Amino acid sequence: MAERVIVKEVAPRDGLQAQPVHLSLEQRQRLIESLAKTGVPELEIGSFVSPKAVPQMAGTEQLASQLPAQPLIYSALVPNMKGFELARDAGIKTQAIAISATEQMNQNNIRKSLTETFAMAADIVKRAASDSVDIHVYLAVAFECPYEGRVALRTILAQAAELMTLNPARLVIADTIGAADPAAVKEMMSELVAAYGAERLACHFHDTRALGIANVYAALEAGIRQFDSSAGGLGGCPFAPGAKGNVATEDIASLCQQMGLDTGIDMAALLESIALLSEFIGAPQGGRSHYWLVKNWQKIFASSH
Ligand code: COA
Ligand code: ZN
Repeated sequence: MAERVIVKEVAPRDGLQAQPVHLSLEQRQRLIESLAKTGVPELEIGSFVSPKAVPQMAGTEQLASQLPAQPLIYSALVPNMKGFELARDAGIKTQAIAISATEQMNQNNIRKSLTETFAMAADIVKRAASDSVDIHVYLAVAFECPYEGRVALRTILAQAAELMTLNPARLVIADTIGAADPAAVKEMMSELVAAYGAERLACHFHDTRALGIANVYAALEAGIRQFDSSAGGLGGCPFAPGAKGNVATEDIASLCQQMGLDTGIDMAALLESIALLSEFIGAPQGGRSHYWLVKNWQKIFASSH
């Protein structure tokens, strides 16, 4: 049996949170229903954030109340304890918290200092343990911050060590603005895998400099088997100027398939989700391999799983 790679589909959250086109709740619901049929094991449905800060994510609690009955792990991003409680009360048992590596990114993203943010992470992970909620801790701007520039590897290793003492379900190294390169990824992820094992580590890449899929490859080489991605390569952070889309789910699925790794993704279903996204956004969406995959996916994928 092929080795498994876990893909967490984040199009309904990271994909939509910075779009100039605001999808209706009904469209977001249809997107979730479509993505739930693509075979991804994990799906981030939105975030429980201030609707003033991110109007694109308003109403996520309503989406949480009508999740498709697929055997998926549904998650949501939360920025603070209030978000944690709202998501928990909406039945979300896996939550993502975004902890930025720099002072200024935390201030701009969640209006907290670096110290306050790390203290908040500890509070949320502790509370989550007693409420049976899994926390995926995101270490954002892990390679470069849009406000403070390059982040040193030793800073990330020290912050990762601090966050791992909390024993989160997962630590996700996030290249929020897409500034990582394969050598830096391989070095960082190899160090982290050596220290903590690959099981609770994941990577989240953006494709700003066309290195998204190269960075996924570098992380695979370092032993990482869990990745975030967005159908169609949609994505961006409203508080990280210059961030382009997430690495595309179809590109990761295609890379893994050709490397003999199994994501479980049904490419025909994923292409349908991307078509739906294009319709909702009003412009064609798609990662680097999308154009080719539309006509040729059966050359590398079996026609059904
Ligand atoms: N969900 C919904 N509303 C929230 C909230 C949450 N998680 N946290 C706070 N609020 C509300 C408060 O109730 C308050 O509402 P009111 O004005 O009606 O009284 C208002 O937001 C301000 O609360 P405060 O605690 O002072 O927040 P803030 O103004 O310092 O903003 C955040 C902090 C975190 C709520 C806001 O910056 C945010 O939502 N950021 C989202 C970041 C994000 O999604 N980034 C992209 C992904 S990494
Ligand atoms: Zn992102």
